[in-house]
Amino acid sequence: MSNTQDKNRNTMQNILHNDPRVDFFDNQAPNWDTCGPDINVTLSRLRQIQNKLGLLPGMNILEVGCGTGQISGCLAEWVKPGKVVSIDFSPAMIQIASKKNIHAEFKVIDICGTVDMKERFDIVICFHSFPHFRDKIKALLNIRNLLKPDGMLIVLHLSGSKELNEFHKNVGGAVAGDFLPDAEEWEKLFKKIGFSLIEIEDKPDLFFLRGRLKRG
Ligand SMILES: C[S@@+](CC[C@H](N)C(=O)[O-])C[C@H]1O[C@@H](n2cnc3c(N)ncnc32)[C@H](O)[C@@H]1O
Repeated sequence: MSNTQDKNRNTMQNILHNDPRVDFFDNQAPNWDTCGPDINVTLSRLRQIQNKLGLLPGMNILEVGCGTGQISGCLAEWVKPGKVVSIDFSPAMIQIASKKNIHAEFKVIDICGTVDMKERFDIVICFHSFPHFRDKIKALLNIRNLLKPDGMLIVLHLSGSKELNEFHKNVGGAVAGDFLPDAEEWEKLFKKIGFSLIEIEDKPDLFFLRGRLKRG
């Protein structure tokens, strides 16, 4: 492990709650871009749903659980001259992302811990990451605080909740029980944190959710 990773880990030792997923994703990081889904396919599918995402030039975006930054550059391109901040609690993932010369700011942050960020965002996007947040209410409360009053949360997967939950079971280990809530569970979660569910689509090759702060 490098000095930077060591330093990042020490800084975070009080807020990681010994989440075994940090080691899991740290170990996955070196092979993430070569052994996972084809990045070109991912980006091409992302571009197909660009309009649905509603990212516009000038917006400030927070990407939570960015991994090695596979989609961060694409997000940055869409919102230019706006800004993309991409966070992940795996120091190894962030170290790889930071070396890619992507026009985004990469930070090691645990979205289920104490999040000390001053900026507020137009859109918070969780791409292929939400199921892994060990405390979903805490993550959503943090996200709520990080959004501008009329900001949007987007949760996106290039598969459906049923398929994804089955996949995590098969992967096993630290992520075996990680699940993407279905529509009914999202309603309950959102009620607890004061969010409105604007749109949810859950089909075998796409999960798309858009939510925002409750008004009035
Ligand atoms: C399946 S990976 C997806 C990475 C990236 N979005 C991609 O599509 O390549 C899930 C990511 O979420 C991150 N993650 C899990 N729990 C987290 C948490 N509590 N706070 C921040 N990041 C977290 C992991 O470290 C991992 O990089």
